[in-house]
Order: sequence, then C-alpha cells, then structure tokens
Amino acid sequence: MITLGIETSCDDTSVAVVKDGVDILSNIVSSQVDVHKRFGGIVPEIAARKHYEAIIPILKQALESANIDIVDIDQIAATAGPGLLGPLLVGLSTAKALAISLNKTFIPVNHLEGHLQAAFLASRIEPQYPYVGLIVSGGHSTLVWAKGLRVYEILGKTVDDAPGELYDKVARFLNLGFPGGPIIQKIGTNGDPTRYKMPKIMVGKGFDFSFSGLKTYVIRLVESEKDKISLPDLCASLQEAVKNNIIEKLKLALEFTKVQRLIVAGGVAANMVLRKGLEDLANNYGCELLIPPPSLCTDNAAMIASCGYFTAPLVHKEMLKVNASANWPIGSAYNM
Ligand code: KG4
Ligand code: ZN
Repeated sequence: MITLGIETSCDDTSVAVVKDGVDILSNIVSSQVDVHKRFGGIVPEIAARKHYEAIIPILKQALESANIDIVDIDQIAATAGPGLLGPLLVGLSTAKALAISLNKTFIPVNHLEGHLQAAFLASRIEPQYPYVGLIVSGGHSTLVWAKGLRVYEILGKTVDDAPGELYDKVARFLNLGFPGGPIIQKIGTNGDPTRYKMPKIMVGKGFDFSFSGLKTYVIRLVESEKDKISLPDLCASLQEAVKNNIIEKLKLALEFTKVQRLIVAGGVAANMVLRKGLEDLANNYGCELLIPPPSLCTDNAAMIASCGYFTAPLVHKEMLKVNASANWPIGSAYNM
C-alpha cells in the first residue's frame, strides 16, 4: 500500500512516499528558511506563496526519488491543521485535486498526530497505545494521554509561547539568526548550563506550560549584564531551563497516567540537551522512550503519510469535505 503524504502547515513544503505505513521511499523537505530569515520569523502570506511555487516540483521530486509513478499511489494524506491557514490550503487542495483526478482515497491528517507518529515510523512499527505524548515545536507545546487511534486526552498546553517560539524569539533578540533552536544549541554546546539560574515556571499549576517568562528573563539579564554576558553560558542555561520545565510536566503526566511509554516529538525534540534529559527521565521511571531522529522531529511529509496510513480505516469519501483548520485540537472531529 503506497501512501503519498503532503505537509505544508508552516514553512516547509514537504512531499513523501511511504510504503505500508513504515517504509520511507522518499521524504523531500524544501525549507523556506532563507526567505523568512530576514524577518526573524515566518510571514504567513509569503509562506503560502512559496508553498504554491514549490508544491508541484517537490511532488515530482518525491515521486522520482521513490521511483514511483503517480498512478501507482494508492492513497493521499495531507495535513489539514493545525497550522497557518494559507499554507495549509496549498497542500490540502493539491492533495484533494490529486485524489479526485486519480480516484484515490484522501486522508486528512492532524499535524500534531503526525509528529507523534514520527516516533513509531522511525522504529518502523505500528502505533502502540497507551502512551504519554508531548509535541514541542515552533507553534506547539501540547501534552497528551494517547489512548488509541485518534483518541487523545489533552492534559496540558502552553499558556503563551511554545518552546521553539521562545528559542526563535531569543535568537531574534540576540541577532543570532533563524530558526533559533539549532543556533542556540550550537552556541551553547560548550557553555556552562549552571551559570545563569533561570526560574522554574508554572510549578504546581497542573500540566500547562509557559515559556514567555524565560524570554523576559533572558532579555532582562542581557540588558543588565551588557558586555559581561557569556553567550555560550546563556544558551546552555536557557536550554537547561527549557529542559527542566518540560521534564517537570512529564514527571507529573507519567505519575498521573501510570503509563509506561513516552513519546516526545516536534522540532524542539531535536534538541540534544532535551534528549539527554528525556533519556535520564525514562531510565528513572523505567518507561519506554520513543523520540524520532532529528530529521523526523522537524516538519516532514513522511510522518503525515505514515499517520494517514494508520488512520485510513477511519476515513470515507466524505473526507473530501474536510476543510483546513488553523486550530484543530488533536483527536477532535474533522472540520467539515
Ligand atoms: O516541528 P517544527 O519543524 O515546526 C512546527 O511545527 O513548529 O519545529 C520548528 C521549531 C523551531 O522553533 C526551531 O527553532 C525548533 O523547532 N528547533 C529546535 C531545534 N531544531 C529545531 N529547537 C531546539 N533545538 C533544536 N536542535
Ligand atoms: Zn510541526
């Protein structure tokens, strides 16, 4: 069974071909980072135009690299939300047009569910339940109790910025470039994570996260220390604080759900400091830990194709009526 996946929810145009839900035949990602760099963040209108220019060439590239003819595709999965509306519409309408013209099944996929699926895809296994799942990226910070296919209890979310957004905003403030996460990781590699003691946030306030306080903390610190500030120590300390805030909430979730399997996915899950912290947490709690490799943490269409493959039994022809949804909570009904 060959699934074509299309992902355009943010600033990456991606098309993938996945066999039987777990074999990646191709996974082409075309980043718009150079276009958005000079704005220090993603400009939704520009992102949509760039997706529109890129989608057909990337589709051709994905088919070519998988050595598959378009008529041999069995089904087409595309991200329907959450994400930026204009960008989402480009991928979604391309997928629907292909499904109608080739008479194939169309499968709308939730972007967050796709991120979590990347962990199973990386291990080449079908989804296993239950698990505690955390999606940490530039736009999301969502903690779920996954109970079955498309069945999620949302435990917590960020009340302000997502952790990737924090990294991107701090990098912009420090004129380091975009996206901020990988740059801050690189600069912090040899820094002292204990140099600047950053606050623990939202302690005792349930499962919700907050990251904008850390941004304010960094800005105040840099303004007061001026030239004395050590950038490597600052970047190391910030990653340490983000890791600690995330680990606290995960401990709470593992204790509350008594679940023995943990998945962390999304762009920020590529962070090496966080990954090390998660390994220690999983060892302490004796739970299974699944984190996709960094290449499958950031946005890609293979995770969407794989998620589409496993959710296909739940879809029907009416799915062509599903609309793009900027805010589509994981596990909730299709927007139609
Ligand atoms: O999942 P993703 O590609 O897009 C969204 O759905 O948001 O995540 C992108 C985010 C950006 O904010 C970027 O700064 C962050 O993930 N990121 C990282 C790393 N790689 C990407 N943050 C920390 N460390 C990294 N290595
Ligand atoms: Zn994402």
